[in-house]
Amino acid sequence: MNILHIDASASDRVASHTRRLSSELVERLKTANPGATIVYRDLVANQLPHVDMTIRHAWTTENTGDTKLGETMSRSKALVDELKAADVVVVGSPMYNFTVPSTLKAWVDHVAIAGQTFSYTAEGPRGLLSGKVYLVLSSGGIYSQGPFAAYDHLSTYLKAIFNFLGVLDVEVIRAEGIAYGPEQDQAAMASAAQEIEAIAA
Ligand SMILES: Cc1cc2nc3c(=O)[nH]c(=O)nc-3n(C[C@H](O)[C@H](O)[C@H](O)COP(=O)(O)O)c2cc1C
Repeated sequence: MNILHIDASASDRVASHTRRLSSELVERLKTANPGATIVYRDLVANQLPHVDMTIRHAWTTENTGDTKLGETMSRSKALVDELKAADVVVVGSPMYNFTVPSTLKAWVDHVAIAGQTFSYTAEGPRGLLSGKVYLVLSSGGIYSQGPFAAYDHLSTYLKAIFNFLGVLDVEVIRAEGIAYGPEQDQAAMASAAQEIEAIAA
């Protein structure tokens, strides 16, 4: 089993809910599958650039020996290859302004590439990936139900992206409402930890 572990919280491991929970899930998956390999991508410590003209160019051209273009191509290939190689992807992501942090959006822009992770066919787009994705999410408010459910552009967006790329098995673990006070924070973390325990059991 190849696990790709992605974190996108701008808080450190002590403060971050998603970093703690995503690590817990990966550790448990590793315990259940001792032979598993883990590739870790911290999108905050090692931020990807926004897609620019060089990157666009790198996707559609041959390398003619230009160093910057070559580096861009290598990074692009590495990002796509590690995603393609993953049987399981664990994404730890906070909600920022109702959606993914821009660091995670940048990653999506780097890996959702026609001809690599999805293709266009006469019948429409077709995802080229498979496997399983766990979305480990956290938010100050509550979006899984109630009056703000329509504001959830985090789980819905990430599910849509992975489904589009061909991964239909997407499971969501949330620690939400953590801004509603220390009791709700603790309860949300305990409930997410329980879900993780059940997954890995
Ligand atoms: C820049 C920023 C934007 C945020 N936007 C939202 C938001 O739109 N809705 C919400 O419920 N919480 C929002 N929050 C709160 C975080 O989602 C919440 O603190 C979450 O637990 C962070 O995950 P982490 O602990 O893994 O960093 C925001 C926090 C930050 C730093």
